[in-house]
Amino acid sequence: MKKIYFDHAATTHLDSKVLEKMLPYLKTKYGNASSLHNYGQESKDAIEKARKELANILKCSSEEIIFTSCGSESDSLAIIGYALANKSKGNHIITSKFEHPAVLEACKFLETQGFEISYISITKQGLVDIEKLKKSITKKTILVSIMHANNEIGTIQPIEEIYKICKDKSNEYKTKIVFHTDAVQTFGKIEINSSMADMISISAHKFYGPKGIGLLYKKSGINIKPIIHGHQEKNLRGGTYNTASIVGMAEAAKIAQKEKDVINKKLKNLTEKLTNEVLKIENTWINGIGKGAGENKLPGLVNFGFLLIEGESILMHLDNKGIMCSTGSACSSDSLQASHVLLALGLKPEEAHGSLRISLGKENTEEDIDYFLSVLPEIVEKLRNMSPFKNKAQLKSFKGNSTCR
Ligand SMILES: Cc1ncc(COP(=O)(O)O)c(C=O)c1O
Repeated sequence: MKKIYFDHAATTHLDSKVLEKMLPYLKTKYGNASSLHNYGQESKDAIEKARKELANILKCSSEEIIFTSCGSESDSLAIIGYALANKSKGNHIITSKFEHPAVLEACKFLETQGFEISYISITKQGLVDIEKLKKSITKKTILVSIMHANNEIGTIQPIEEIYKICKDKSNEYKTKIVFHTDAVQTFGKIEINSSMADMISISAHKFYGPKGIGLLYKKSGINIKPIIHGHQEKNLRGGTYNTASIVGMAEAAKIAQKEKDVINKKLKNLTEKLTNEVLKIENTWINGIGKGAGENKLPGLVNFGFLLIEGESILMHLDNKGIMCSTGSACSSDSLQASHVLLALGLKPEEAHGSLRISLGKENTEEDIDYFLSVLPEIVEKLRNMSPFKNKAQLKSFKGNSTCR
């Protein structure tokens, strides 16, 4: 059976050109970058070259890049690392209700350490409520962390506007409010650079690089405490360098920079076709901004809602047909709890359970979309007929509570 992968927001395949660049550092150039001998220095040179290439893309200096093991670690290092180093300046942190668990759990941990966290609500379109964010900043606020694009619904947040609010409030209160953004879903796809935040989290496996490698951009002059202690990365992140993956991340980033405009155009066209056709199925909607979202939506990512059926059931039926997608973030899909992102959007739990996330990638084709569209309506009909709630009157009277349908 043909396999079709529609879960690129969870992870992507490793680009074969990236693998090629990595292989020598796994096979022959395997030295520990901290060793003074030839193999070690060869490895160190490769890391510093990769650092420079990534810094060029992020428009920052090499010194401002800290290599980590993943996006989650970058988020923890930014949020916990900054909070612990700057506690004397204030104990208030602002984030949003629909951040990735890597951010929310880091914030929850900080609550146990005496920090107060404000979780800003989001609009029905899936955008952070800027007015509420502005109002929640106090003289005790030291950090604001708002993601660049949401991983479940793909909405892009106005981070440049939020960064400006942080700077203006810093001037007004004569304090320093640092702005961090989780750009795990956007780096390599849309523009993100050092002029847009003080700290930026990135993860390679979302842009056809290897799993288990990420970075944190940290503007110079910003103090953080390490979470993993050791001498690497100027004492900010201990651990033997993962040379092959660092080299792979830089290569994947360079390829993504070159390809992104062409890929985005293709993904926009595929998404439009997909969306137009799926919405023809009765009682189906888009979670977050839907059609016409333009620049505010990640190309290729769309989250559909289907009334009266479980997203997991659709997922399993699609999987039986060789199509792989997701009901939300990969991390929460095994918990069977309604997605915190969809609940934050204002959906009722029963509506949130009927969600299906399609995230397209560069290898997807129009034939993939056609195949998906040829099997989906039948699956939806079958599941609705099996639903204990099946009731035509219920379906007909349904008006929904999301503006985005
Ligand atoms: C927005 C966002 N942040 C953080 C992460 C975590 O990244 P990693 O898998 O590299 O830990 C993910 C992964 O799904 C994500 O989508």
